[in-house]
Amino acid sequence: MEVRKLHPIFAAELIGADISQPPSQELIDLVEEAMAEHLVLCIRGDVISDEAHLRFARAFGPLELPGPFNPDTPRRMAYGLYDASNLDINGEIIERESLRAKFSKGNELFHADSSFNDMPSKWSMLRGVIVPPERGDTQFVDLRHVYDELPPETKDRIESLVAEHSFLASRIKGGVDPEEVERLKASWPGAKQPMVRVGPTGRKSLFVGSHAYRVEGMDDKEGQALIDELLAFASQDKFVYAHKWRQGDMLIWDNRYALHRGTEFDYERYKRDLRRANVNEYGEERSAVPEDVEFGYPMDGKAPPVTVD
Ligand code: OGA
Ligand code: MN
Repeated sequence: MEVRKLHPIFAAELIGADISQPPSQELIDLVEEAMAEHLVLCIRGDVISDEAHLRFARAFGPLELPGPFNPDTPRRMAYGLYDASNLDINGEIIERESLRAKFSKGNELFHADSSFNDMPSKWSMLRGVIVPPERGDTQFVDLRHVYDELPPETKDRIESLVAEHSFLASRIKGGVDPEEVERLKASWPGAKQPMVRVGPTGRKSLFVGSHAYRVEGMDDKEGQALIDELLAFASQDKFVYAHKWRQGDMLIWDNRYALHRGTEFDYERYKRDLRRANVNEYGEERSAVPEDVEFGYPMDGKAPPVTVD
């Protein structure tokens, strides 16, 4: 097995690993080591099964389960995986104007998965089952490097600041009607995150993203302006690694020290079937989504939830 860099700053690919089989301790150690250094790792190979995907993900920590989930509703993929595709339960392309498609538009803003909940998020592991022949790259930035490059006065300014993150905030920024998400708000409180994180080696990292919408101790406008300024700085082309998908890719990223975003592709023409497992650093396997959240659209490939008055 061999690890090769994909970008001057970060990101690498792992050649010669077979993740269709139970991972050996050697492979687990190699992936942990490569992730600590490169933050983004692509393992290339043939398309593996959902079960192999889940087994591989669980080798690195407990899953953050999707939810809410009714075990009786049919799904397009094994439970435990998030549906990041543009496909409906029958594998057909969903309408661009549907609420679910609008919700996924928010993924095209730089974010860290799950920063809106207080679980100890570690990695996302996104598998390319069907990939479009052109465009639809997933882009990344290394927030440790971005932090190093910040002007000293900005570093001082953000040192002890805390931001509030909400899934709904990023959906509004992505174009979903604020009224549409208003009904979700009460049951989905979001989470607070420090704007500067310290990694295991003591290296500091910026922590911000499109889920962040307010900074403690600042008025809303000032806080959002600071978040926007930091995101604009972090999104400079020179910091970005753009991953060009190949079918079978398993793309792993660290949600603590990296941001990612989807990019546009011909949504109505090409199927893009990406499936994601999220792992936490520790804790029980559970969903972070409150039981009573009502999406009003098919989430994770399942049928819309049925409400009973
Ligand atoms: C995700 C995500 C981006 C993409 O699955 O968490 O943000 O390119 N995906 O689909
Ligand atoms: Mn994401």
